[in-house]
Formats: sequence, C-alpha cells, structure tokens
Amino acid sequence: MSLLDAFGRPLKNLRLSVTDRCNLRCEYCMPEEDYVWLPREDVLHFEEISLLVDVFLSLGVDRIRVTGGEPLLRRDLPTLIRMIVDKPGVTDLAMTTNGILLADQADTLKAAGVQRVTVSLDTLRSDRFAAIARYNELARVQAGIAAATRVFGGLKIDTVMIRGVNDDELVDLIEYGRTVSAEVRFIEYMDVGGATRWAPERVLTRRTMIERLAAHYGGVEPVIAASSAPADRYRLPDGTVFGIISSTTEPFCRDCDRSRLTADGMWYLCLYATQGLDLRGALRRGASREELARIMTKAWTERTDRGAEVRLALGDRRAFVPLRSLRQDPHLEMHTRGG
Ligand code: GTP
Ligand code: 5AD
Ligand code: SF4
Repeated sequence: MSLLDAFGRPLKNLRLSVTDRCNLRCEYCMPEEDYVWLPREDVLHFEEISLLVDVFLSLGVDRIRVTGGEPLLRRDLPTLIRMIVDKPGVTDLAMTTNGILLADQADTLKAAGVQRVTVSLDTLRSDRFAAIARYNELARVQAGIAAATRVFGGLKIDTVMIRGVNDDELVDLIEYGRTVSAEVRFIEYMDVGGATRWAPERVLTRRTMIERLAAHYGGVEPVIAASSAPADRYRLPDGTVFGIISSTTEPFCRDCDRSRLTADGMWYLCLYATQGLDLRGALRRGASREELARIMTKAWTERTDRGAEVRLALGDRRAFVPLRSLRQDPHLEMHTRGG
C-alpha cells in the first residue's frame, strides 16, 4: 500500500537525480553562462541512495526513473542500477537522458537492469540543435537513439516545443520517431526554475499542436487510458501513437504521484516546490530507516502541492524563479530536480 498525501494522491513514482551536471546547455533549462553546482561532498554515495530507495519502497514507491542533469555523466552508473533493480517492489526502472553518451552505454545499462529509456531531442537540424543546446551533438544523440532502438527495442523521445524555435518540426519528429520505434512526446515549455527565458508567448499549446497535426495527417484521436502519467496519448489515422505533456496549459496535478530526490539527497514533492526535505542531513546524522520512514511519511501525508495548477491560475505569468535566487539555491533549478 502506498502512502496517500493530503489530496489522496499515492506516493508511487520516484525520480532519482544522480548528478546535477549536464553536457548540454538547453535554452529552456540551462541557458546561463555559468552555474552553481552542488558541492561534491554533498552528493550521495551509491550506498546512501540505495538505503533511501529501500525506505521509499517501504512507503509504496514502485516506479523509479533515473535522471540528472545528465545521468550518464555519473561514474559507474550501472553499479547503482544493479543495486536498485532487484529490490522487492521495483516494478519499473527507467532513465531519462540526453542521449549523447548512450551509444556507448546502452548495452551495459540494459544488462544492469534498465528497462526503458527516454531520450530528449528537440530538433532534427544540426544548426538548430546547436542554437537550442549550445553544442552540436545531434549526430551523437541520434547514434544514442539508434542504440536504444537496438538494445531496448524502442524508446520514448521527449521534445520541448518552443514557439518560433522548433514548432515547425512537429511532423518531422513524428516521422523520425516512426523510423526508430520511438513514441514522441511533445512537452509544453514550462516556467520551471532555470527556464529564465520563459515567456507565455513562447509556449506552443497542446491545442495548437493537435490542430496542426490533425491538419497534416487528417485526424488525431485521443487514446483513452486511466493513468497518472504526464503524457496524454493520441493516435494518427495510420496507427502511430504520440504524446503531449501539457503541464503549462492543462496541468495534471490532481493525479500527481511523483516526487524527486536530488543528487545531494534533498526530497522535493513538486517540480515547483521551493522547499525540500533534507534526507542527506538525516541520513548522515545517523537516522535509522524507521526514523527516515517517519519523517518521509509525515512530509508526504501533509503534501498539498499543486504547483502547475497554481501557476496556471496566476494572471501575470513569467519565469518562476529569478536568476539571483537560482544562484543562491541551485535546488530551485529544474536540472537539479531531474526534469
Ligand atoms: P513515463 O510515463 O514513465 O514514461 O515517464 P514520464 O513521462 O514521467 O518521464 P519523463 O522523464 O520523460 O518526463 C517527461 C517530462 O514531463 C519531464 O521532463 C517534465 O518536463 C514533465 N514532467 C514529468 N513529471 C512531471 C511532474 O511531476 N509535473 C510536471 N508539471 N511535469 C512533469
Ligand atoms: N519546460 C518543459 N520541459 C522541460 N524540461 C526541462 N526544462 C523544461 C522546461 N522549461 C524537461 C525536458 C527535458 C527533460 C530533461 O526535462 O523534457 O527533456
Ligand atoms: Fe506534480 Fe507539482 Fe508537477 Fe503538479 S506541478 S504535476 S504537483 S510536480
């Protein structure tokens, strides 16, 4: 049985960030010249992560997604995967990566126990890739995607859609997805911490995406399924399925069963939360599993977060966290929270 929060939402999905570092600088996530990184000595060791995962599992978590920053930058990641995957209660172990290092690591990750991967890909054009992500790594990302297709039999692709940046690639990305056995998910640009260039007029809404795709393909049908997943799925006339994650214009907080553990052991109950629970501190002070379970139970049962819905209700909306606050507390950054 999972713990329920104040709105009856179960604690199910854990997003486990293993590093705050990244080898890209995507404009919707890390657009600045320099960043304040988590101190190395604060980053949890694998044994510490494993112990915390045990406590999460005892409270009802059953799905784990490894994230970053870029998770493949964490040295020896397959060792951590092996430590987690066979724990009783783990029904799904997935990873979200930018794909740059995936071609080299896909076989090892699969052997270690990763069941599914999602690769972020915002454009199929080299010049545009560099404009969005600062470095032109399109070829390596596509090699990573090819490896994921071969090793995992398919994957998901996450595309953040920004009006005037890549919104002319909806069809191209779906067509590309078909060739690599990928389900493409278009994500509305969110005003999360770190998205310092966010503005309402840069958001391509779910509605517009569907209108454009329906006009091109001659129809888009929703795939009806009860689920707490962020993506709503749609089917094209030829059967191709794609997803839309409309966190900005139609948030899904009422079903949100996700929480996030940062690489330094802070636990965040919402993407938009400004405060986290310091599990590293408790762990390193020698708290037992029972004590950890107690403080985590208290936090989850009192949870009332519905960050994206609160943002939507604001009239005048702009970037959620000002740059100076991000520098004071890097935990406010989306990349520290694992996307
Ligand atoms: P599966 O459904 O298990 O495949 O995973 P997922 O869709 O949760 O994972 P993924 O990491 O691909 O998440 C996709 C994107 O959805 C994230 O990068 C975020 O942009 C967004 N997202 C994920 N979780 C949340 C959440 O709790 N709240 C909001 N508002 N957006 C989220
Ligand atoms: N808006 C929407 N999605 C974002 N991500 C990061 N920043 C944003 C943002 N501002 C998501 C993307 C990316 C993943 C790691 O986090 O899906 O692929
Ligand atoms: Fe969950 Fe917060 Fe995202 Fe809403 S905004 S879906 S509560 S993480």
